[in-house]
Amino acid sequence: MTKRIVSGIQPTGNLHLGNYLGAIRNWVRMQEEGECFFFLADLHALSSFIEPQTLADGVREMAAALIASGVDPERATLFRQSQVTAHAEMQWLLNGTARVGWLNRMTQFKDKSGKNREGASVALYTYPVLQAADVLVYQATHVPVGEDQKQHLELARDIATKFNTDYGVDLFTLPEATIPPAAARIMSLRDGQSKMSKSDPSDMSRINLSDDADMVAQKVRKAKTDPEPLPEDPAALEGRPEARNLVSIYAALADETPAAVLARHAGQGFGTFKPALADLVVESLRPLTARLLELRADPAELDRLLAIGATRAREVAAPTLAAAYCAVGLG
Ligand code: TYM
Repeated sequence: MTKRIVSGIQPTGNLHLGNYLGAIRNWVRMQEEGECFFFLADLHALSSFIEPQTLADGVREMAAALIASGVDPERATLFRQSQVTAHAEMQWLLNGTARVGWLNRMTQFKDKSGKNREGASVALYTYPVLQAADVLVYQATHVPVGEDQKQHLELARDIATKFNTDYGVDLFTLPEATIPPAAARIMSLRDGQSKMSKSDPSDMSRINLSDDADMVAQKVRKAKTDPEPLPEDPAALEGRPEARNLVSIYAALADETPAAVLARHAGQGFGTFKPALADLVVESLRPLTARLLELRADPAELDRLLAIGATRAREVAAPTLAAAYCAVGLG
């Protein structure tokens, strides 16, 4: 069976190294392996208030960043979620299947709503059902994501199984998460306990694809670390989250294991390791950043590519959506 690969990213803020190493690099690689559908999750972005103009600008910026990273609109179907209404329609059908108890267990909702649960939007709560619709409507077999999305993918499988069972159909394929070994969870440069995130108020906490070489060097230099030298054994990074994070970033960019990186850098302090890491980040991102600047200059072309992608996505989603309506008695 050919792979059907589906994934999305919220077009809020910049594409950062966590997104790139955790997910987007796998999107690019998986273009060789099967039929790919990649989208800007602009409906998901409504789960927290965002200025309309900021959202509109973010969509193009993220589309440019994805193409600069190697997503090829000729090979993959690249589109905006909101331009394919099947996502929202399928979510409503799946809302009948998803259980409140399941959503109550979602750690992302707990993290994002924090102490203000009563004040969180309903969209933030039902967000994982839309995410299930996103992948099930394309019969996804593989979903390349970072580790923080694993629980949402398990929920999508539960919803698919219950829908198939409740309605006595064999409609939905159960999707599998594809998570990279070394970079499943890149942490903030300022705090090794929280993940690198678009929504962190400090820009020093993340490396953006759009950062220039000086900015990257400055962020790496100022990254929080500890005074100990690097160990030989990766197990000795336990309890040193900041050190472990920088080694993971190095390993992911160099396409090596953390053990291989430590074999070369053991005994070094961060005064030596950080400049080596900064050089590697700059060299790895340089071609991507250059391409991003070119793509940004032509928003009409980005809109054109996204419109082509949406047309193709609508065609592929239509039969599964129609079958889901039929299954529930609304055919
Ligand atoms: P989002 O926009 O937060 O992130 C996009 C992708 O980047 C990964 N990621 C990370 N990986 C490693 N380390 C990090 N610090 C890091 N931060 C983010 C995420 O795991 C994700 O793969 N709900 C999703 C978007 C979405 C989606 C979907 C994904 C909507 N529908 C359907 C897959 C399938 C989100 O907000 O990702």
